Amino acid sequence: MPSILAVLGSVNADLYVEVDRLPLPGETIPGSGAAIRPGGKGANQAVAAARLGQATHFLGQWGDDTHAGMLKDALASSKVDLSAAQGVPGPSGQAFIVLQKGGENSIIIVGGANQAWSGISEGMQAAIKSVGTLLLQREVPESVNLAAAKIASAARVPVILDAGGAMGPLPKELLSQLAVLSPNETELARLTNLPTETEAQVYTAALALQKQGVKEVLVKLGKRGALLIRENGQTLTQGIFPIQVVDTTGAGDCFTAAFVVARMEGRRAEECLRFAAAAASVCVSRLGAMPSMPQRAEVERILVS
Ligand code: RIB
Repeated sequence: MPSILAVLGSVNADLYVEVDRLPLPGETIPGSGAAIRPGGKGANQAVAAARLGQATHFLGQWGDDTHAGMLKDALASSKVDLSAAQGVPGPSGQAFIVLQKGGENSIIIVGGANQAWSGISEGMQAAIKSVGTLLLQREVPESVNLAAAKIASAARVPVILDAGGAMGPLPKELLSQLAVLSPNETELARLTNLPTETEAQVYTAALALQKQGVKEVLVKLGKRGALLIRENGQTLTQGIFPIQVVDTTGAGDCFTAAFVVARMEGRRAEECLRFAAAAASVCVSRLGAMPSMPQRAEVERILVS
């Protein structure tokens, strides 16, 4: 199987501000730490995979505004292959991120170029057919994800979908093409209309997704770790590696990408989960989404400690 990963998805300029707490309606409060950083779920996952040593194509779109150069440079400097990515007229995607003390965030997305797709280019189609795995998220139109998944499935390329980026239901046609679907607990609850407060509830909801045609379900549970239901029904759980949390933005992207990298390396499912948890622990210890994605050596150090 080819060892290249294709990540199709969004790239955003993340506009950060840090606050002690969220403002009430009609209230004005002071903030600090205003900064523009590269992000977007697709680009974050592509950079995470590349920094972990995985040859990675990014298939996405930036605009023709002042953010575009910064976004391209950020991807390219992590050695992500941009030969099939493209610029389109109009603004790049933006994410307005309000970061509270303790690392919790609230995010508002303005889609821009991420929502301005006019089909999947020939270059992207060729890339999808030639890789070992296709990784998707939900910050581009569902029609684009579905088309990409169909191209991949026809070429027997496994498709993995991180459910982050949109809250609506997923079409059956897409679910049935997924090797792995990875929601967090909120996304799992919305996708299934089931509660996800206890471990038993998470398990029941994940099983409900699997019954809809997904082969494996990987649930990211934040501080509670992660749960994987494998194709053979085996259930695995993984705790977190304790660390001082600075910013949780991008941690889910990091977890999914690291899991995919380990899976492409042919590691056992337990090892994939552990590798992903170690990578995410580095990510939450630093500011920013894309800038906080770990290098391989940082993850290896945690795994041997
Ligand atoms: O998952 C984190 C990402 O969500 C941020 O980088 C932001 O761009 C939003 O897409």
